[in-house]
Amino acid sequence: MKAALEALIAKIDSEIDSTTPVDRLQQAATLLRQLARNQDDVESLIPQLSAALQEDTSSSTAARRHAGAFYTPTALVNHCLDQSLDPWLDQHDPDLIPDVLDPCCGTGRFLLAAGQRLVDRMTADTLCSQQEAWSKIGPHLHGFDRDPLPIAWLQGRLNTLAGDDPCASKSIRQTDALADGALPQITADVILGNPPFGTPLRHTTDAEKIRKRAATVLQQPLGPYADMAAVFLLLSASALRANGRMSLVQPISVLAARDTGAIRDQVLQITSLQSTWASATSVFDAQVHTCVLSLSRTPTKPALVERFGGLPPQRLTPIAPPTIDMTWSSLATTALGIPDMPPWRTCGTLGDFAFATADFRDQYYGLKGAVAEADKDEQTHQGPPLVTTGLIDPAQCAWGHRPCRIHGQTWKRPIVKLDQLDRNMQNWAQARLVPKVLLPTQTRVLEPVLDQTGRWLPSVPIISLTAPDHLLGRIGAMLLCPLISLLAVHRRLGTARTPDAIKLSASDVLMLPCPSDECAWDAAAELFVQAHQDGTPHKALSHCANTMMQAYNIPENTATTFLDWWKQRLPKSIQPTDCTVISTSF
Ligand SMILES: C[S@@+](CC[C@H](N)C(=O)[O-])C[C@H]1O[C@@H](n2cnc3c(N)ncnc32)[C@H](O)[C@@H]1O
Repeated sequence: MKAALEALIAKIDSEIDSTTPVDRLQQAATLLRQLARNQDDVESLIPQLSAALQEDTSSSTAARRHAGAFYTPTALVNHCLDQSLDPWLDQHDPDLIPDVLDPCCGTGRFLLAAGQRLVDRMTADTLCSQQEAWSKIGPHLHGFDRDPLPIAWLQGRLNTLAGDDPCASKSIRQTDALADGALPQITADVILGNPPFGTPLRHTTDAEKIRKRAATVLQQPLGPYADMAAVFLLLSASALRANGRMSLVQPISVLAARDTGAIRDQVLQITSLQSTWASATSVFDAQVHTCVLSLSRTPTKPALVERFGGLPPQRLTPIAPPTIDMTWSSLATTALGIPDMPPWRTCGTLGDFAFATADFRDQYYGLKGAVAEADKDEQTHQGPPLVTTGLIDPAQCAWGHRPCRIHGQTWKRPIVKLDQLDRNMQNWAQARLVPKVLLPTQTRVLEPVLDQTGRWLPSVPIISLTAPDHLLGRIGAMLLCPLISLLAVHRRLGTARTPDAIKLSASDVLMLPCPSDECAWDAAAELFVQAHQDGTPHKALSHCANTMMQAYNIPENTATTFLDWWKQRLPKSIQPTDCTVISTSF
């Protein structure tokens, strides 16, 4: 790939005479338009070429990332067509040619594949040649891209396929898809694509403009961490004509991120979810997990959403569509090997009797200068132990046994010297130094630990849960239940740093449902407390998890599936085969 790219850049350099970057790009575009006539192998080099010509060659990967130029594999393109173009064709008069749009078309992988399907149908039904068919269908293929190089290549390709008919590419334009006259104004029958990903505030200078566009459609402000791809989802859904269909690649975080909630709700109001696709592995060069959302603007809503996974896509079990205010994570869970939620019996939520807080950056930085290494024997007199996420496992705290990182430094036994905190931080510490359950975030299952005597200070972003002391065991047992971890994944998949991890906010935790069987819950609460004092906590934890399954009324034969899923996600340090468990006594 690198050699081919260098050869292409050398060819461009030998044929163009300008040294200014803008002219160089325009001349490269002209050359690519010609190369598109007979050189397919150039196509996959275009994102790197573009990045190399627009930026310093050494930062071409960064430039490519910045543009979000990761082209879609053929198998996924075909799946999107199966889910959008084909059903549209099935429901319309064979003479009708749909207007197909890819708002960020790159080299037109979606448009060329859609065009080929339409051409094959036309040539099979009529006596016209492939070239004549491309001449007729070409103008119905609408594509935008900011980058002149893929646009030039696609225009050249379409003109060639249509027997040098320049009209075939008249709907392919180099433009910002979000500019006036582009996506916000156009309508189409079929919309396909893989828009650029990225949280606007972090990755583009156009963040404000993009958010304003979305806010106009939503009639409410868009949160600062909404992904740009979600804005394309919203504008594409709005651009869909009656009975139209669309399939759009999205980052998996769009399914559950808080700041895209308004977009999900609006999209559900104007379209219906037909199917989704997701994959356990990343199918693009970028390290982002993706999904495909296929939607229709038809009057009838399907009772079930079809789910697909992997490449080539396999059909999985369908699921009921999400409703307004729900996240969409469950659309992708099966494809990632995560079981669906079983029917269970619940009663109320944790918020009915508990309080939760996650603290903020202020508390993290407010500890600066007050953290010290504890003397081995006299730790408790010097100040409370400071506990980080990395020190917590289910029912275990490894403070003093495992090192941890705080403020960019490694500590063996970090304590906080309370007299060195300012008044606000002292008040904060006082409020945290009470009996509580601590819950770290970004873990593969929920990993609660009980601080029965209230001696630990939690480091941000650990969630602290408080309640009357006799109910703390119940909180721990509930958070330890495999079904609660599973529910957390079904509510927030894709919002953590890795697709495998769970990230709940304090308010998410308070909305978790409690079990209906209080006797079983109390028995599990005792086992949870016991696990903290046990040299072999995995036994008490397994027992606690089993008992919690009963508390939620899950039959024994079904419970195994969820217990197995949970056990293989537990941290290695408390897996039954590992004996190096650190137990903290109170
Ligand atoms: C992930 S690539 C997808 C290309 C093509 N649809 C495919 O799937 O193979 C995203 C494309 O969006 C383009 N792009 C990024 N921001 C854009 C914008 N605001 N308007 C139009 N195109 C944009 C990039 O240049 C890049 O070609």
